[in-house]
Amino acid sequence: MDLYEYQGRELFDRHAVPVLGGGVATTPEEARALAAKLGGRVVVKAQVKTGGRGKAGGVKLAEHADDAFAHASDILGMDIKGHIVHKVMLTVTADIAEEYYFSFLLDRANRTFLAIASVEGGMDIEQVAERTPEKVAKVPIDASVGVDEAKAREIVEKASFPADIADAIVDIVVKLWAAFVAEDATLVEVNPMVKTPEGAALALDAKVTLDGNADFRHPGHADFVDVAAEDPLERAAKEKDLNYVKLDGEVGIIGNGAGLVMSTLDVVAYAGERHGDVKPANFLDIGGGASAEVMANGLEIILGDPSVRSVFVNVFGGITACDEVANGIVQALALLHEKGEEVTKPLVVRLDGNNAELGRQILTGANHPLIEQVDTMDGAAERAAELAAAAK
Ligand SMILES: Nc1ncnc2c1ncn2[C@@H]1O[C@H](COP(=O)(O)OP(=O)(O)OP(=O)(O)O)[C@@H](O)[C@H]1O
Ligand SMILES: [Mg+2]
Repeated sequence: MDLYEYQGRELFDRHAVPVLGGGVATTPEEARALAAKLGGRVVVKAQVKTGGRGKAGGVKLAEHADDAFAHASDILGMDIKGHIVHKVMLTVTADIAEEYYFSFLLDRANRTFLAIASVEGGMDIEQVAERTPEKVAKVPIDASVGVDEAKAREIVEKASFPADIADAIVDIVVKLWAAFVAEDATLVEVNPMVKTPEGAALALDAKVTLDGNADFRHPGHADFVDVAAEDPLERAAKEKDLNYVKLDGEVGIIGNGAGLVMSTLDVVAYAGERHGDVKPANFLDIGGGASAEVMANGLEIILGDPSVRSVFVNVFGGITACDEVANGIVQALALLHEKGEEVTKPLVVRLDGNNAELGRQILTGANHPLIEQVDTMDGAAERAAELAAAAK
């Protein structure tokens, strides 16, 4: 889960990483009142989960509260790379002598953690990294050792931080690592980390990604979820423990096993090119051992998506045999019928693997008018795409 900057700032604050005082506002009036409370001179910052806000005009300095009202009016509602701004964060201003870049992240390719630091931080860090990569220090972090003061000092030296700020940066780096570990983050990024003219170091931006797989260890992280911004289908799926991701096509997809579902998306997208460019409407992996109830939950979510025009159920029987899946489909349709949620969209089912023959017989026997069986994955994808295109 990516956090908004104001949430990241709050999290930094909890771990004693120095941040500036501030708050959030959802209307220009709120921004004016908050600015007045913060002393008038503030920075108004768009809260969107994407980078490059400053360059897009989403970060503005206000000299007084009325200015903050005007900037908030401009920034709220702004579209930054497809993200609409619904909130602004206001912070007191800092005098900046220098801007640095610092991050800790999970380096999947090298199976380690990584610290990235540069004394040439700020809004042009991407160009710095591209044109003068030698100015960006990268230091792998051994997960079993972590970052103590000595390690932090090694990073700070490698990035050539000036001597007068080195101690203050070492202190922040140790605290950021503590936050990274304690919160089960996969990214904490501070750009810019600044030096003030008085020689203090501050985190002026906070980009944090939390590892969703560790949510069970952090009940408090649920508070960070922006319920209003969540897709309602994804929320419903999460409540039912389904691995569901909403996409923007028309062919609903259910499969068992993430790999199979991923390749199902590919074959459907490919077949869709021949049928009015229809595309997969979602990713849904019902996993092994899918009961009728899981199948019903999955179908309910997918059929609840108004853009779905046909559904492709692609199952390769393994531990869960195809006859169980077939019974699951039949029972799922009956369950939905009982709930008064009549299914009206065609289902293309492909069963293969363990007990495929038996599974097919069960579906044939059920003789449901909306179920169509196709033996091959490509053929079924083709048919599902065709049905979606016909219903368009
Ligand atoms: N509190 C502040 N006081 C003074 N200047 C600030 C303050 N906050 C931000 N700035 C200035 O605004 C610039 C942009 O801010 P910030 O880094 O938060 O946005 P951004 O980098 O453009 O956004 P993103 O991180 O999404 O790419 C900073 O590099 C800094 O120069
Ligand atoms: Mg930034």
